Amino acid sequence: MYARIAGTGSYLPEHILTNAALAERVDTSDEWIASRTGIRQRHLAADNEATSDMALKAAERALVAAETTADEVDLIIVATTTPDQSFPSTACTVQDKLGLHGFPAFDVQAVCAGFVYALSVADAMIKSGAARCAVVIGAERLSNLLNWEDRTTCVLFGDGAGAVVLKASSEPGILASKLRADGRYRDILKAPGHLKQGQIEGSPWIYMDGGAVFKFAVRALADVAKETLEAAGIDQADVDWLVPHQANLRIIESTAKHLHLSMDKVIVTVDKHGNTSAASIPLALDEGVRSGRIKRGQTVLLEGIGGGFAWGSVLFKY
Ligand code: UT7
Repeated sequence: MYARIAGTGSYLPEHILTNAALAERVDTSDEWIASRTGIRQRHLAADNEATSDMALKAAERALVAAETTADEVDLIIVATTTPDQSFPSTACTVQDKLGLHGFPAFDVQAVCAGFVYALSVADAMIKSGAARCAVVIGAERLSNLLNWEDRTTCVLFGDGAGAVVLKASSEPGILASKLRADGRYRDILKAPGHLKQGQIEGSPWIYMDGGAVFKFAVRALADVAKETLEAAGIDQADVDWLVPHQANLRIIESTAKHLHLSMDKVIVTVDKHGNTSAASIPLALDEGVRSGRIKRGQTVLLEGIGGGFAWGSVLFKY
């Protein structure tokens, strides 16, 4: 029994903020942002657009692509670090908006590693027989957490959602996954603000020690990707596509180099989407599939890393 991706979908808000437009608001430049990160633009959600609205649209598109009707779904997992509310979970809101009820729906909070965490949990639930058809979504409205006066962070992030439909199958699907976390590094990337007695306690904005995150990410991603390949007994040379978390083009290039993969085997969307945290991998995966690059039967490696620190990787046959 495998869990196999039956279809992918994604959604990006209409409004695009280019580096040039951003440079009118904050002391930065297209040259600085593009050369340090590879980012050229990002999408920003409309005022009335919640994480669950974007998640819903991505899920609906994935269901269409999977030729699956909503009534077949028996599990919804939403990876997000920007839920609509403290509770209920965004997954429960998505379930209701899809007109469904009764089966498990919950959020996974592993920041930029959220989608690989959620996919790995859904895989385990399908393999155990607890579910047969899961909708796994990564959705973020990171603009809620951005301080537009802090040029070290506001230029990096964007909003959006991506989703997959994961179904029980006798054909190979997910081959291996590895999840890791190390809470000793929880202060190098954080949004510490939380509600206390009706007030926000701590800064509500994203804080990042970019250099420390960069160094940690390069080593951790290469290691976990290799461990996942080893667990599946797959050689690096047999990977058709790497779909990495889209935070920084230099980190992506470095991971590809460690895995001896040329950049024409890597799906890159960071230029168009910026860093959309838990949404970045399913957004890139959907683009890879819809552009015709990722084809049925190919071997695909996902990897993500972010606040926690939490990181991981999933290897599958598409
Ligand atoms: O999704 C989770 C994972 N996140 C990541 O993987 C992000 C990892 N880190 C990074 O991508 C990079 O560290 C950054 C892109 C965030 C920063 O790049 P960097 O090459 O490490 O730059 P830096 O932080 O060392 O800053 C270099 C200079 C500084 O000026 P001084 O002190 O040298 O005069 C900054 O003040 O660039 C300045 N700077 C900017 N200048 C123009 C910082 N932000 C900006 C900006 N525009 N937006």
